[in-house]
Amino acid sequence: MPQISEKGKAAPASPIRKLVPYADEAKKKGRKVYHLNIGQPDIATPETMLNAIHNYPDKVIEYSHSAGNISYRKKLVEYYSRYNIHLTPDDIIVTTGGSEAILFAFQSCLNPGDSIIIPEPFYANYIGFAVNAGIKIVPIPSSIESGFALPPIADFEKTIIQNVNKGVLKGIMVCNPNNPTGYLYSKAELETLRDIALKYDLYLFADEVYREFCYDGKQHFSVMQLEGLEQHAILFDSVSKRYSACGVRVGCLISKNKEVMAAAMKFAQARLSPPSLGQVAAEAAVDTPEDYFTDVVKEYTLRRNIVADAINKMEGAFCPKPAGAFYIVARLPIDNGDTFCRWLLEEFEYNNQTVMMAPASGFYSDPKFGTDEVRISYVLNAEDLHAAMEVLAVALKQYPGRKK
Ligand SMILES: Cc1ncc(COP(=O)(O)O)c(C=O)c1O
Repeated sequence: MPQISEKGKAAPASPIRKLVPYADEAKKKGRKVYHLNIGQPDIATPETMLNAIHNYPDKVIEYSHSAGNISYRKKLVEYYSRYNIHLTPDDIIVTTGGSEAILFAFQSCLNPGDSIIIPEPFYANYIGFAVNAGIKIVPIPSSIESGFALPPIADFEKTIIQNVNKGVLKGIMVCNPNNPTGYLYSKAELETLRDIALKYDLYLFADEVYREFCYDGKQHFSVMQLEGLEQHAILFDSVSKRYSACGVRVGCLISKNKEVMAAAMKFAQARLSPPSLGQVAAEAAVDTPEDYFTDVVKEYTLRRNIVADAINKMEGAFCPKPAGAFYIVARLPIDNGDTFCRWLLEEFEYNNQTVMMAPASGFYSDPKFGTDEVRISYVLNAEDLHAAMEVLAVALKQYPGRKK
């Protein structure tokens, strides 16, 4: 039988989805499963977008320009100017979700064998994208005790010096606000990263797909607002979470670096076109009224507080209260997150209910880290979150692998 590729073997299973068969079994037994494992928001997609889809004007759903419709890229210029990010349509390539933007950037900026630094824990799919591009992720640990703040600059310099000398380190990547930790990087932290990127001539990749989800009155600061970093900054963005429109599959790659954009354009042409229908919806979405976001941010703040307050009341459990995105990483009094999350689905029930969470080890470069942590997405309504937290509290008391 022909053998699959080394990349096919190296690509990891998603920690977010790998427990799905156990959840399906639990549901077959009639149990209600609270899904805290996946970042699929339950918030309604804005009317503006849905109307644009219903009123799609053309008789044929054609390919679009490989860089995306010019009308949409102009509209994106307007969107970013609201955040003090000044672009031209040529600085933007529309992609099939933020996922494709990351792939294009890795393919355009990095050679197989190159490496990039990412503070960990990090979005698990970065590992799959890195395997795809043949690059290596060099992690720098951030700690739950400090709320997953940017690791000390000395750690970056030490790792950079070790790897730069090998001639393979090409960049640093951050996700801001962060998935899985919810951490929102400050302007000062980004300026520190800018200084290091310039000192060692590294790309600074920033995944900002959760830009709008900032709480407690905090403001988002973008990598594209950093002065002097025009040739080094690469931004990944997406409408998936912003407008609760994951299924339209529209994101974008942004950079002022013309060589990077020209290289990325070749990959964009090879895949012909980003989704045409999705772009029509995404273009309309830019006119979503501001109060849509005011309401969404209020709702997520409430949900974050429900989850964080409940966890911090559970004996032996701890989580920081993050200022962004809609995820929380919690440390629980358990032997192993994978075993615990599977046990919850296979063996546990409370009033015929259970919870599904993502074991956090899958968000680390090495699954031996984060073994007593889980990632919780607070994408359910307040009532369901209260119920899910009650189920989790009972489960922690009954779990045979509970730490003393
Ligand atoms: C941090 C982060 N980046 C990128 C993506 C990719 O999203 P999409 O391809 O739907 O735009 C996700 C999706 O969950 C994410 O959480």
